[in-house]
Amino acid sequence: LSRVLRRRQKLPDVNTVDDAVRLLQNAKKIIVLSGAGISTSCGIPDFRSATGLYAQLQAEGKYELDDPQQMFDISYFREHPEVFYSFAKQIYPSNFVPSPCHRWIKLLEDRGVLLRNYTQNIDTLESLAGVNNVLQCHGSFKTASCLRCKTRHDGSKIEPYIMSQTIPYCETCREERNTEIAAIKAYRASLKGKGKGKASEWDDSDDDEEIDEWGRGEPGIIKPDITFFGQALDSEFDECLFKDREDVDLLVIMGTSLKVAPVSEVLSHIPHSVPQIFINLTPVTHVKPDVLLLGDADSIVTNLSDRLGWTIPPPPSVPHA
Ligand code: APR
Repeated sequence: LSRVLRRRQKLPDVNTVDDAVRLLQNAKKIIVLSGAGISTSCGIPDFRSATGLYAQLQAEGKYELDDPQQMFDISYFREHPEVFYSFAKQIYPSNFVPSPCHRWIKLLEDRGVLLRNYTQNIDTLESLAGVNNVLQCHGSFKTASCLRCKTRHDGSKIEPYIMSQTIPYCETCREERNTEIAAIKAYRASLKGKGKGKASEWDDSDDDEEIDEWGRGEPGIIKPDITFFGQALDSEFDECLFKDREDVDLLVIMGTSLKVAPVSEVLSHIPHSVPQIFINLTPVTHVKPDVLLLGDADSIVTNLSDRLGWTIPPPPSVPHA
């Protein structure tokens, strides 16, 4: 309560659009923390709303998940990669157009007052809107990595697998595996030639086919570089936050339930003296922003821009390829 009271002293009357306008007028280094709510108007469902992705997965029941979040859980993925790859095409960024919110973030950057956009979204619509200083806290489909050899591939490599709902295996692993198999076979042949006994642990099967089968079943699975539950965020998140917390003079939170750490903990890493504007369709009761603007985020940022005399740029001409 003391923290909230201390914060309240900065603004005589809180919770009004006028306060938000005044804060935006004076801010020079704004952090925008955004979530799925800024992409719903683009046709991309959020996660936890009644019509969100998790409700859809629960209702469909076709993936036999104990919990819809398992779709994005790394342990579950390792066990059942086929489930994610049968689903991924539904969330793969394609032909979406950035919302007024994405373009409002671009507007802040064009005005030279965006310190950074920390987005939890993986749709890369911020980049499509032209925002340069965006941190993809939960990654994106831009790249994909092998779970076994960690080789990082360009995201386009797995797009055909996502679209055909099949699992991409890592060729780098396969090549390494084939090299290992050739070496084992050469070693066995060399020992057989010398009439020696047990060649290796493979000696109990003289069937080279079995070794080939071993090689075929083994290569690493490639996973998009989106952060699953059970995976740590890229170190860039901590590095940026450590730096930005010293410079930020306004935090704008948009379209997020703030349910997933560590992004949800950004608010507690920002000095109490920095005012916070929260723009969301539904109240988020575990945080106490200085200004809470409830409603559709696109309409709110459009209204704020009108009051500020700012013009939100039009959508980019080409939708997401
Ligand atoms: N305008 C404003 N707010 C909206 C709108 C809208 N048009 N549409 C939805 N919202 C709000 C919802 O009311 C909800 O509070 O956006 C919030 C979205 O919350 P979530 O669905 O929980 O999405 P998000 O907060 O981004 O989830 C964080 O959870 O599953 C993980 O990795 C996933 O990045 C995701 C993370």
